[in-house]
Amino acid sequence: MSFKERVFEKARQNVRTIVLPEGDERRTILAAQQLAAEGIARPVLIGDPSSIADAAGKAGASLTGVGIVDPADSPKREEYAGVLYELRKAKGMSEEEAGRLIADPMYFGVMMVRQGDGDGLVSGAVHTTGDMLRPALKIIKTRPGIKVVSSSLLMDFQDKEIGHDGLMVFSDCVVIPCPSDEELAHIAISAADTARTLCGIEDPKVALLSFSTKGSAEHELVSKVRSAVRIARSLDPALALDGELQLDAAIVPEVAALKAGGSPVAGKANVLIFPDLQSGNIGYKIAQRMGHAQAYAVLQGLARPCNDLSRGCSVGDIVMTAALTALQAAGSIKQP
Ligand SMILES: CC(C)(COP(=O)(O)OP(=O)(O)OC[C@H]1O[C@@H](n2cnc3c(N)ncnc32)[C@H](O)[C@@H]1OP(=O)(O)O)[C@@H](O)C(=O)NCCC(=O)NCCS
Repeated sequence: MSFKERVFEKARQNVRTIVLPEGDERRTILAAQQLAAEGIARPVLIGDPSSIADAAGKAGASLTGVGIVDPADSPKREEYAGVLYELRKAKGMSEEEAGRLIADPMYFGVMMVRQGDGDGLVSGAVHTTGDMLRPALKIIKTRPGIKVVSSSLLMDFQDKEIGHDGLMVFSDCVVIPCPSDEELAHIAISAADTARTLCGIEDPKVALLSFSTKGSAEHELVSKVRSAVRIARSLDPALALDGELQLDAAIVPEVAALKAGGSPVAGKANVLIFPDLQSGNIGYKIAQRMGHAQAYAVLQGLARPCNDLSRGCSVGDIVMTAALTALQAAGSIKQP
């Protein structure tokens, strides 16, 4: 069974409600149809019901089993606006502004997830990462013990000798441009959690990457990675985590034996932590385009899952992201 099929199968065993705020967008509607028809999730489209019905008609999609919620006409609108105001008043939000913002499908959808009326959210066929992430950061916030929201790329290689049966987790490749040592440590802890929850890697081996291996070079950028390793170890002493490691020392046993003998991670890493967003984003695209890996992006560190799509996404991408979101939801916590 492929990684994708395994994800769908797991999602079917524990069906979750997935909120889709871009409710009248063609690919989103087709994905909702597939999610409902194949029992992968309970999709809820946010938007004006007549616009959604029009778009579904044009796409030839059936809305059987697909929920529709209209923020303009929802009995929850007042409650949600009140919660938004309470959460943001200390930051200067007025009641009027909260009332106006909650009419926006993105804010409404994120609030549905916060309030437990949805288990997770997927958007990005139309909106940017920031459009979704800003409301999510303000309304849902981070998981207890985790300071930053970041991302992981689940890399599915054809060569099953790579990583854990062909799977590796690369992080952070989407969110934090220039993480501090502490942020890098939190990214590492989150990525290990993502490896367990979404890839079934029960014993993740986490390498914090650099251009130096165990003191082979000295630079402030290397010191930052070393410091991140110390912080991450104090956050989770039981986690197999090591650094600083060059990529080859992290994944090639012969190089690891020469450069990092005795490391619990070197030569067998299956979770790679990049030192910044430039290296992370470039790194995953090299693996995707030259190493022919399938790459699936998820956000991590939010108290309840919200995930982003690329604007060029296919219907299949939306379905897979919704399924991954459902698996994250199974491991997430309820808001107080
Ligand atoms: C994530 C992102 C949207 C945050 O933008 P920002 O301008 O820093 O957001 P704001 O300053 O308005 O912050 C909003 C709130 O979120 C918090 N926040 C910002 N980034 C955060 C993060 N990564 N984790 C946790 N909280 C975060 C801020 O502290 C702030 O909290 P507060 O309002 O309660 O004080 C921005 O970093 C971003 O766009 N990243 C994506 C980078 C990118 O372009 N990637 C594309 C690669 S494919």
